[in-house]
Amino acid sequence: MEARSTDSEPHLLAGQRALITGAGSGIGRAVAEAFANAGASVLIDYPGNREKADRVAANIVEAGGRASVVRADISREQDVGAMFAAARDRYGGIDILVNNAGIQKDAPIQDMSLADWQAVIDVNLTGQFLCARAAVREFLRQGMTRNSRAAGKIIFISSVHELIPWAGHANYAASKGGVMMLVKTLAQELARHRIRVNSIAPGAIETLINEAARDTAVEREKLLELIPYGRVGEPADIGRAAVWLASDQSDYMTGATLYIDGGMLLYPGFIGNG
Ligand code: BGC
Repeated sequence: MEARSTDSEPHLLAGQRALITGAGSGIGRAVAEAFANAGASVLIDYPGNREKADRVAANIVEAGGRASVVRADISREQDVGAMFAAARDRYGGIDILVNNAGIQKDAPIQDMSLADWQAVIDVNLTGQFLCARAAVREFLRQGMTRNSRAAGKIIFISSVHELIPWAGHANYAASKGGVMMLVKTLAQELARHRIRVNSIAPGAIETLINEAARDTAVEREKLLELIPYGRVGEPADIGRAAVWLASDQSDYMTGATLYIDGGMLLYPGFIGNG
């Protein structure tokens, strides 16, 4: 993890409290680290493996930041309630929710079990709804704080697959399409409360979720054909953008999606064709 910044870089999230779901690894972890680096107190949610989450928190604390962990399966209403109660106990509430936790369970539609369909929808869509609802209740309870120009901020971590159809991943693509409309609707609904709702839609980022697609040199080559910028993204690419999107620097922005994908959405199949 990067050392806490000591240079002239402003601490964009100083005094703010952030809950990041699925932050034991991957994009969630990078967001937690970048937020802590920007001065936020972070609450790191993990669904199962406490060790990894503890390590993320320990690194942040060692670097001079404030972090603690909480276990919650975000698809369970009770767990989400307990997670927000923990945020209240430890930090007195939250200013930012990063709705990051997500899973993939891929199969051709004819082989996709109802359980795998349901599991993905439960975490990626229903889980994001449950956390957003709890965060909004918290923001409304708190009212305006001195920490930010907004009364609260929610960042959804979606995917380029909110737009790009994805054969063999019907449950995942459908969940992300749902997230896209959830973001826009909540942004429209909550702007009058000065709650900002935005999303980040990453392309291929080096995390566990797409490890198999990068296994061999051939697989990696195939993946790179989809990325005009010529590299797979790093979790920190998302962390940096999330800091800005959660900060007052983007205060006039709501209902927007930042596509961070090395150009994956630019129809790379047309390069040299058509
Ligand atoms: C998926 C990854 C995939 C990327 C680009 C993400 O949403 O989780 O597995 O590599 O989209 O296709």
